Amino acid sequence: MVQGVVLGIESSCDETGAGLVRDGQLLGQALASSMDEHARFGGVVPEIAARAHVHAIQQVIRQALDEADLTFGDVGAVAVTTGPGLSGALQIGVAAAKSLAYALGVPLHGVHHLAGHVAADTLEHGPLPDPCMVLIVSGGHTSLLLVRDLVREPILHLGDTLDDAAGECFDKVARVFGLPYPGGPAIDRAARQGDPAAVSFPRPLTGPRDAPYDFSFSGLKTAAARWAESLRDVAGGLPVADGAASLQEAVADVLTRKAVAACTEHGVDTLVVVGGVAANSRVRRLAQERCDAAGISLRVPPMKLCTDNGAMIAAVGDLLVRAGSPAAPLDVSIDPSAPLEFAALQPSSAPGRVAL
Ligand code: KG4
Ligand code: ZN
Repeated sequence: MVQGVVLGIESSCDETGAGLVRDGQLLGQALASSMDEHARFGGVVPEIAARAHVHAIQQVIRQALDEADLTFGDVGAVAVTTGPGLSGALQIGVAAAKSLAYALGVPLHGVHHLAGHVAADTLEHGPLPDPCMVLIVSGGHTSLLLVRDLVREPILHLGDTLDDAAGECFDKVARVFGLPYPGGPAIDRAARQGDPAAVSFPRPLTGPRDAPYDFSFSGLKTAAARWAESLRDVAGGLPVADGAASLQEAVADVLTRKAVAACTEHGVDTLVVVGGVAANSRVRRLAQERCDAAGISLRVPPMKLCTDNGAMIAAVGDLLVRAGSPAAPLDVSIDPSAPLEFAALQPSSAPGRVAL
């Protein structure tokens, strides 16, 4: 056995991911996506996602092992996303992880999906400094977090979204603009040809009396939808590129302004931006500009590690193993709406939980 290899499994939404990590080093990973199967519905269909995980999971784990040139006998622990996410989708990853942990006789660790997004960055840039400020921007979450030791200490929420997440805003507006699913990358692409100053979309919750670190994207989404409706019948059609560039500018402006202000106010000199929306080109560029101006060092994972993957779950598992965290019981249950308090998420099947 290659000592200390952690297999991570991710299946909370439409990506089936497996990754292998040892001592903070990514050894191999593989990914399958059911994204194309959801495209014609304009969003993820939970049953289709769950079925796709069933079909993909064994192959993805094997592929990750092959890429790392390892075998099942080398796996020293298994980590799996137990929440938050789609219930049926989570169940498949957890079932696979339990079977492997049981069959291999190795410990199992339940991992919070968002902690995975945070840990993804360690695979590229090494251990996180203590403390660091983390901006999580995904399809379902937008939060500003003060992170100390990711696996040993509670995660402090400075602010969260009060309604839609940033990715959700991109996905929903993209639909109104007639762009394909998933909306975020489509907005990013369309924006390249547009003028970010063409439409002055609102910057929600940035007034002097607003909660400084909370977010709200539902008003921005509505403003973008109204703008699109107002121009739908205009000769020449909707100027989608300008709308996309202006929306992207508004989202990037709000996200980076608040994140940099949080660093400055809390005296934290490292900002880590993670989650699917961290793949957005304007978010990355504006975050870099503003961090440079404020003397803050910015860390953003490479694009491949921003969106959902198994490597990030293995990265948390590896940190948990090295911190000596207790393993999860084999009756560990999924927790589809788990709040982000700790990186390890190991509820046993108490009443009210969904156990396998
Ligand atoms: O983290 P993630 O892969 O899944 C969740 O945990 O939600 O994030 C998916 C979100 C989607 O809303 C998608 O539209 C958005 O990330 N996204 C982007 C880009 N790439 C993915 N948003 C803006 N620009 C992108 N380039
Ligand atoms: Zn995610």
